[in-house]
Amino acid sequence: MLTLRLACGLFLVAVVILATLGRYFTSRAAKKHTVSGKTPPHILQFPPSRRHVLASLIKSRKSFGDFEIPPETLKSKALPTISKADLDRDDQFTPTGFSTQEIRAIGRFPDYSILAGVRHPEPVSPTWDISKAIFRPYRPFRWGYHQHMALMKFEPDWWVELEQNYLKTMAARLNLLKEHSSRIFFQGPGADLAARELMEMLLQFLCKRYPQHFALSAADDALFHNRLLNTTTNLTTTPPLRVLFENVPEDYAIMLRHEADGFYYLRAAMVCSSVGWHIGQHRDRPLRAIHTEVPDAGRMAMSMDRWFSKMGTDAPVSRCSWSMEDWEAMFTTPEIEEDWNRSAFARDPEKLTVADLRLRCDAQTLRRLPLSGAVVFNFKAIFTPLEEVRDEPYIPALLLKVLQEGKENLITYKCVDNVKRVAMDALEKWAAEQVEQGIVPEGWEIGTLDESPFFRGWEEKWKRQQGL
Ligand SMILES: *[C@@H]1O[C@H](CO)[C@@H](O)[C@H](O)[C@H]1NC(C)=O
Ligand SMILES: *[C@@H]1O[C@H](CO)[C@@H](O)[C@H](O)[C@H]1NC(C)=O
Ligand SMILES: *[C@@H]1O[C@H](CO)[C@@H](O)[C@H](O)[C@H]1NC(C)=O
Repeated sequence: MLTLRLACGLFLVAVVILATLGRYFTSRAAKKHTVSGKTPPHILQFPPSRRHVLASLIKSRKSFGDFEIPPETLKSKALPTISKADLDRDDQFTPTGFSTQEIRAIGRFPDYSILAGVRHPEPVSPTWDISKAIFRPYRPFRWGYHQHMALMKFEPDWWVELEQNYLKTMAARLNLLKEHSSRIFFQGPGADLAARELMEMLLQFLCKRYPQHFALSAADDALFHNRLLNTTTNLTTTPPLRVLFENVPEDYAIMLRHEADGFYYLRAAMVCSSVGWHIGQHRDRPLRAIHTEVPDAGRMAMSMDRWFSKMGTDAPVSRCSWSMEDWEAMFTTPEIEEDWNRSAFARDPEKLTVADLRLRCDAQTLRRLPLSGAVVFNFKAIFTPLEEVRDEPYIPALLLKVLQEGKENLITYKCVDNVKRVAMDALEKWAAEQVEQGIVPEGWEIGTLDESPFFRGWEEKWKRQQGL
């Protein structure tokens, strides 16, 4: 049963993002919107064009012009996404309005901050030391009637977040790939451009954010140096997603707009942090097919698709979901491990103590790639001992409230009963302790914190823990 609940993992997460947006748009626009049943509603809906930046990227841009391409042309001359695209053939267009000849003229490793309209990251501070680095303390608990959308602004500095377990994580990923191959890593024939683009964007990010650890060869950007792994990758001979799999410790799922119906389908992915499911199960699925698992989703599917079809490359979003576990599950799937249990203490629930509990946060970003128009979901799983929240102002009481009074089906999804029971006992004690110690005032009105998804004073604690 739990397995089933978790089986939709990634997409439940994805859908929760969209459901949140969907609710917003249902109330505003979708009422007028009707589907004929025959013509797909978004077949002529394309994301905002980025062609106006061509002038800054290509010197000979006069031969291209920066006018917008009409949707009818984008549709009739679409670059294919279900078969291999021939990028050497002229006059095929991506959903963001770029032609194949423009893509060739832009070349490898263009300035993606210009192309996407999202600034480059600042380099980490000179005192930053990866051997001490820890993830920021995500505590994405929310409570209150006047909830804002659970979406947060995308922070350009934090697209990829490296920490002290980098080498261990990279090794674990390679082992998973050896064992599970297409369950965790695949790429469809039409995803070449998106894969290359995502690779270039991420390598550009890494070189700007962590210049002490990563570099591209100066003359031609053909070699990528990773000074943490001490590897050099020849980018002209290594498949792009493979480059990412071997250098970036995070998960990615790439959705492409289908030229035939305007909906988005999962065409490539590398996802190692799934628990109770695997990304291979969802290969080639449309976003639309996934809605069945969420209450009210059918009603909202239309407005979600609509939002998705319009999302701009300069408006990425981020989000953080959480659950509570009694072990640090990285990748498991019921298909492979038949007696798989979400709980490590399934046999001996009485032995479970608060020291065993882990908060699992899945930090996610969602952005559109500027050239290919692909939409990319990105995830990282972050485990924290629950005991860590004991001294974090307001967090124990807030989390306790969510566990006590949150929607039952949602809470059951977030933690099994034994975990919930043990967590609540501890949180109650810690919440009272914070009042006694004057860390929080008595009788404060419990609600989403202003600092969400963090907490008051998080930065001092986080820096102290890293010796900064
Ligand atoms: C990479 O090389 C540096 C310098 O020689 C060394 O300190 C480090 O341990 C090496 N790392 C790995 C993963 O081999
Ligand atoms: C990368 O590989 C290609 C094909 O083997 C080769 O021609 C090229 O010289 C290599 N690049 C570098 C910088 O080693
Ligand atoms: C998992 O749970 C089932 C019953 O829910 C039990 O029969 C099985 O032994 C458990 N497996 C492990 C490894 O605990």
